[in-house]
Amino acid sequence: MTSKNAPPAGIRIAGTGMAVPPRKVSNDDLAKFVDTSDEWIRPRTGIVTRYLSDDKQLTSDLAAQAVTDAVSNAGLKPTDLDLLVCATMTPDVICPATACRVVDKIGAVPCGAMDLNLACTGLVAGLSIAANFIQSGAYKHIAVVGADRLSTIVNWDDRRTCVLFGDAAGAVVVSASDNPDQRCLYQQLNSDGGMGDALYVPRSEQDIPQGGHEGFNGKYDTLQMNGREVYKFAVHALQDCVKDALKHTGLAPDDIKMVIPHQSNIRMLTSAWKKLGFPDDKIYINIDRFGNTSAASIGLCLHELTEQGRLEEGDYVIFVAQGGGLTWGASLWQL
Ligand SMILES: CC(C)(COP(=O)(O)OP(=O)(O)OC[C@H]1O[C@@H](n2cnc3c(N)ncnc32)[C@H](O)[C@@H]1OP(=O)(O)O)[C@@H](O)C(=O)NCCC(=O)NCCS
Repeated sequence: MTSKNAPPAGIRIAGTGMAVPPRKVSNDDLAKFVDTSDEWIRPRTGIVTRYLSDDKQLTSDLAAQAVTDAVSNAGLKPTDLDLLVCATMTPDVICPATACRVVDKIGAVPCGAMDLNLACTGLVAGLSIAANFIQSGAYKHIAVVGADRLSTIVNWDDRRTCVLFGDAAGAVVVSASDNPDQRCLYQQLNSDGGMGDALYVPRSEQDIPQGGHEGFNGKYDTLQMNGREVYKFAVHALQDCVKDALKHTGLAPDDIKMVIPHQSNIRMLTSAWKKLGFPDDKIYINIDRFGNTSAASIGLCLHELTEQGRLEEGDYVIFVAQGGGLTWGASLWQL
């Protein structure tokens, strides 16, 4: 799509949507085919159920459903979109980009398309890309969707990782606004590839770090995770991102309506927020129902909050995420 607009006065989140596969799997259901239990999973992670897709449901199918929902909730037609950003680490295929397939499936050709592979940080990065494209005046309406089917890349014999994840897509339409008070006030994106093997998918022996990887589960092309290392990294990354966002905007926890974090682990989230001085009711949590849905999770949270009527124009919200890469980032918006 060609660039065609003067820079707008503001940027707004115009619509949200989400999609999950039909199959809901409780911890007890999981314990029928994984050596685990509700007693182990629930207190350590906060997860009670998650949704798992079947072979027929592709990442692009979930993403298309969520984007269609978000576009309609924004009062737009698919052909109004200038760009579609799909954050995923489980693309349908390596080429073409999943975003291209989504554009086709929703009937938005020739909308621009790009995939982002930043694991659980993908949606936060996509929101920043959308904010900057719109702020520059290049585009008016951008769909950002986080869509992942981690069930297809976990090793189902590795109980330390497979119980944590669920499949889903969460979508946001970001649009130009006439209201200068609607804006993205702050954004940051970070990475440290040197820590990449804390959460990675090796293809062959040469991808295993020198000296071996103590957490390697023995199966290539599956997700490997050093849970303790990721936990320690994530608690600090979350806190640092939120502290930076507050410092740079001069806002205090009292000013923030809601923090919308990537849903990785309830213990990790609650300990981070307590240290930051946020009360529990300002942190949105739905990991109990969906598990960790990777790039989708923040989209699911935002959609649920919107549907529940808990966000109003003028509210300040913080999106914050961390994940494979390792990557981490945040953005602070006035709605
Ligand atoms: C995954 C996590 C809950 C595991 O907790 P932990 O205390 O580190 O657990 P460990 O892997 O050390 O395992 C402890 C014990 O529980 C067992 N265990 C591990 N997974 C289990 C499961 N699903 N069911 C039952 N037992 C399990 C282990 O075998 C081990 O038993 P042992 O002591 O007899 O050897 C925790 O590390 C975590 O949340 N990390 C962050 C993960 C994350 O958020 N990743 C995504 C980032 S975007």
